[in-house]
Amino acid sequence: MDVYEAVTSRRAVRGFTDRPVSREVLERVLSAAAWAPSGSNLQPWHAYVLTGAPLAELKERVGERVAACDPWDEREYEMYPPELRSPYRERRSAFGKERYSALGVPREDWEARQRAASANWQCFGAPAALFCYIDRGLGGPQWSDVGMYLQTIMLLLRAEGLHSCPQMAWSVYRKTVAEILSPPDELMLFCGMSIGFEDTAVDYTRTGRAPLDETVTFVES
Ligand SMILES: Cc1cc2nc3c(=O)[nH]c(=O)nc-3n(C[C@H](O)[C@H](O)[C@H](O)COP(=O)(O)O)c2cc1C
Repeated sequence: MDVYEAVTSRRAVRGFTDRPVSREVLERVLSAAAWAPSGSNLQPWHAYVLTGAPLAELKERVGERVAACDPWDEREYEMYPPELRSPYRERRSAFGKERYSALGVPREDWEARQRAASANWQCFGAPAALFCYIDRGLGGPQWSDVGMYLQTIMLLLRAEGLHSCPQMAWSVYRKTVAEILSPPDELMLFCGMSIGFEDTAVDYTRTGRAPLDETVTFVES
């Protein structure tokens, strides 16, 4: 698979089969992803990979919290600014419409939307998950390094025939994740990532992208 194919075939997959992902493949992907760039080569990421019984335990514990309508853990970072301005507000709303109409869920049906969202915490059925932490003392440029690392992982997963879904949703149950992983205090959970083989029976709508001239400016003579 060439890089273009890996980039364009990667998408946030929200339906996986239970076919296991081997430790060997995960190690190969994570060893190669370690070559992702970072400012001054800080490599400001720490990933935990869960499969088998520990992942089942995490899904169960968070499933209990979801079922009990347990309030989310207090935020350690804001996922989005409270007032999203144009064009981001419109893009977010277009994404919400696409996502829920693909699921056949009316936007105003709050409960159905919550049910759909709760699949996040079952990793959409995936048998492997990665939790990516960053040292809480690091700043914006290092968060960007972590993003490059995560995208590198997702592209390498494509090369292995695997799919993924990055998930900030895990940050709202970060304390339960920490019960299983016991990360050191200085680390903050950025996101989870479901990893596995796509369940092709699950419907989806491919997200669109803004036209190139909205996000790129060529300056030429
Ligand atoms: C950092 C990050 C966090 C995300 N968190 C979630 C999430 O919690 N749940 C989810 O279903 N998708 C999540 N996504 C997936 C995005 O919704 C998705 O990448 C975006 O809509 C573009 O679609 P595509 O990845 O299928 O091309 C996240 C993506 C990123 C990069």
